[in-house]
Amino acid sequence: MRKQIVAGNWKMNNDLAQTESLLTALKAQTKTSNAEVMVAPTYTNLFQAYQALKESDVEVIAQNMHFAENGAYTGEISASMLKSVGVKTVILGHSERREYFGETDAILAKKVDAALANDLRTIFCFGEVLADRKSGNHEAVVESQIKNALFHLEASPFKNIVLAYEPVWAIGTGETASPEQAQDMHAFIRKTLNDKYGADVANSVSILYGGSVKPNNAQEIFGKPDVDGGLIGGAALNADDFFAIVNAF
Ligand code: 13P
Repeated sequence: MRKQIVAGNWKMNNDLAQTESLLTALKAQTKTSNAEVMVAPTYTNLFQAYQALKESDVEVIAQNMHFAENGAYTGEISASMLKSVGVKTVILGHSERREYFGETDAILAKKVDAALANDLRTIFCFGEVLADRKSGNHEAVVESQIKNALFHLEASPFKNIVLAYEPVWAIGTGETASPEQAQDMHAFIRKTLNDKYGADVANSVSILYGGSVKPNNAQEIFGKPDVDGGLIGGAALNADDFFAIVNAF
């Protein structure tokens, strides 16, 4: 059975006081699904969040990290720093990191290696921009993003990898991929994994969908056979909405 996962990516939102009130609201929620639940606050509030949620159903994860162990990388955060505040899972390759911070497939391959070497589970994100979707190039783009950053790995590390398909045109736009578009892409991703690593890996890796998932569309998207959960942006900033999505399974 693949794990069902709903992860909230808070992006660059919520100062300490806002984080504390969202954490309090999250602790008051009840989980009625089997989904694993995660939230990714900003770096400065990770420890606070970990302390607040460590006895709860909600895991605190990070939005990014650097590939180096330590050293002269002003402004960056390492895997061991994340681990030292209780983090066990990190999001890598978000399209906003790629677009605004110049993260290439080659950089992401190094980040994935560093996360795995530090026993951090990775939620690896990828997805096409609108022009690629319009030109019919979306599968080729996604395939190359996955191959370039992950296909140097052996099969065994995939037990610590979760994939997140986030079409860039659906992020923060209110325009969701249709459940059929999500299913088609997830099935393609699973086939790509199957071709390289075989059925055991392909059938055991969870593939999340991200891009304008809301309480009113989550159930339909999560109902598709190859969609194992969601990576949630805007709707994760409200505890009621986020748990409505968690409980949509
Ligand atoms: P939205 O849910 O706000 O579209 O964001 C999705 C996302 O980028 C999650 O990482």
